[in-house]
Amino acid sequence: MKTTGGGEEAKRRAGERAAELAEDGEVVGLGTGSTAAHAIRALGRRVEDGLEIRGIPTSYGSADLAREAGIELATLDDALPDLAIDGADQVAGFDLIKGGGAAHTREKLVDGAADRLVIVADPSKEGKTLDRPVPLEVLPSARRPVAEAIEGLGGEPALRAAERKDGPVVTDNGNLVLDCDFGRIDEPADLAGDLASIPGALEHGLFVGLADAVFVGTEEGVEERRR
Ligand code: 5RP
Repeated sequence: MKTTGGGEEAKRRAGERAAELAEDGEVVGLGTGSTAAHAIRALGRRVEDGLEIRGIPTSYGSADLAREAGIELATLDDALPDLAIDGADQVAGFDLIKGGGAAHTREKLVDGAADRLVIVADPSKEGKTLDRPVPLEVLPSARRPVAEAIEGLGGEPALRAAERKDGPVVTDNGNLVLDCDFGRIDEPADLAGDLASIPGALEHGLFVGLADAVFVGTEEGVEERRR
């Protein structure tokens, strides 16, 4: 699974703490990324010890990991998640930028459908305001008009390039990703609304008002913030 850096121990602590929240009979949304992966592995260990849950993955990566961990898989057609555990690329309060693993469309579907969403992160993700480029999943045929719309909003779009393949990243849904740099984002809800209204832009990585708790792993333990 892709890692975006940050302290691995801090990620592990946050992920493992969040995995303790799952209860017998629950459906759990399984996020994508190296921090969520710690939660998935920890859930797998709890399943080995008798916990009965089903997991709804947010990517091919999290589905594979969950299968390896022995977690029964489900879809949103089967049930809505009681709990979702997911990572983030940047956290300001309870607002997030996600999509570093190009999985934000399914992540938003699963995380948004969950009764409670717990975000797991290491301290490098925390900031006072959001200012990282916002990933935007875009239909391949809409790349140019969407890029022009982003420029119209004052952003700088960059097509995400693949690392071990020539050409662009292609998402699990067969689309492209534009990383859109808006500098400091003072009003994330307003920008989220603008991005959501661009034809051909399937989903953006701004998660505003979705997280119920943020667990940040530290050197010593886990800082838990709840709404
Ligand atoms: C994937 C995501 C990830 O949750 C985000 O990139 C954080 O990843 P990591 O835990 O590896 O730092 O949004 O689309």
